[in-house]
Amino acid sequence: MSDPASTDPLTPRPEHRFTFGLWTVGNRGRDPFGHETRPQLDPVETVHRLAELGAHGVNLHDDDLVPPGSTPAERDRIVGRFRDALDATGMRVPMATTNLFSDPVFADGAFTANDPTVRRYAIHKTLRAIELGAELGATTYVMWGGREGVECDAAKDVAAALDRYAEAVNVCCAHVRNQGLDLRFALEPKPNEPRGDLFLPTVGHALAFIETLEWPDMVGLNPEFAHETMSGLSFHHAVAQALWAGKLFHIDLNAQRIGKYDQDFRFGSEGQRDAFYTVRLLESSGWDGMRHFDAHAYRTEDVDGVWDFARGCMRSYLILAEKARRFDEDPEIAEALADAGAARLHEAQVDWNDPDQVAAVRAEDFDLDGLRGRGHGHERLDQLVLELLLGVR
Ligand code: GCO
Ligand code: MN
Ligand code: MN
Repeated sequence: MSDPASTDPLTPRPEHRFTFGLWTVGNRGRDPFGHETRPQLDPVETVHRLAELGAHGVNLHDDDLVPPGSTPAERDRIVGRFRDALDATGMRVPMATTNLFSDPVFADGAFTANDPTVRRYAIHKTLRAIELGAELGATTYVMWGGREGVECDAAKDVAAALDRYAEAVNVCCAHVRNQGLDLRFALEPKPNEPRGDLFLPTVGHALAFIETLEWPDMVGLNPEFAHETMSGLSFHHAVAQALWAGKLFHIDLNAQRIGKYDQDFRFGSEGQRDAFYTVRLLESSGWDGMRHFDAHAYRTEDVDGVWDFARGCMRSYLILAEKARRFDEDPEIAEALADAGAARLHEAQVDWNDPDQVAAVRAEDFDLDGLRGRGHGHERLDQLVLELLLGVR
């Protein structure tokens, strides 16, 4: 077991802001082909175990904590017992969300179901889950549209679905404002699974959607490593653009190989380069959000393997953060970066408000032969990064 008071840079501590979902360590290994391989975890035990491992907090869907159908008295007892565990360990609940995908009522979607009554129920369930999250101290509310999509395109008007999606997000924002809650929303894009096609499939789609909302400042993104990778996209680029747009409200870290089913592997277990560049970006930007692991242990694992998995996610993040520090201090890498002209991309060229500057660039002559055929040194730079990651420098 790790000692949270340790100063070893690879030992997770609460100030590293690592969080897990109750549903992540609580994943029981069920898949479309086979039954559960692990017993159910008690959320209170999860809080204690994660605290011992040095995590900062635990996130939840409404149904992860309070089983659907609980009476108000049962709800209060469950929430009270959970809160006692948080108080005893100092663990936080920084993010909450709604399960709008397990119940067969959502088979045709939740906010974008064709049936208006289902849509109303989805909003009703979310408004109550927002209150549960706020009660536990969450300041970020994730919206993952697990059932917002379609297989039979004839059945769904995509533009109407986006109208209804926006309506639901606006109603949730209005509820937060009406109740005076301190909560922002983070949309989580995903291209497919469980639907054939999901709406808001990538970070780019979600960024454009947010600008159409009533209160765009209240809504940002929760990009996930596996989701962008499933589309064959660079997760690091998606995170960089979300940060650039001021919209990185939360992040789901895990691992995934392109072209495979939704794997949700332990962070760092696949795609180490993209993981490295993502960690370097988060660390160097000073982003102060939660490093949330939305992953689960392999189906081969028992409960001990689940804690190995959780330890591994955090340790891999810290190893990559350490590599990022070494990248920044390495003189040979600095030289290769200078050869590649990396810093010069920060230089703005033309003030477009000044017509003389626009005309000057229009009139300029260029020595194209001098610019052509020049090497950029990327082979050397990339090999240096690879050697850093492989531990030989
Ligand atoms: C998935 C998603 C979910 C969401 C979670 C929080 O692919 O199943 O990533 O794990 O992140 O429901 O909204
Ligand atoms: Mn996912
Ligand atoms: Mn996720």
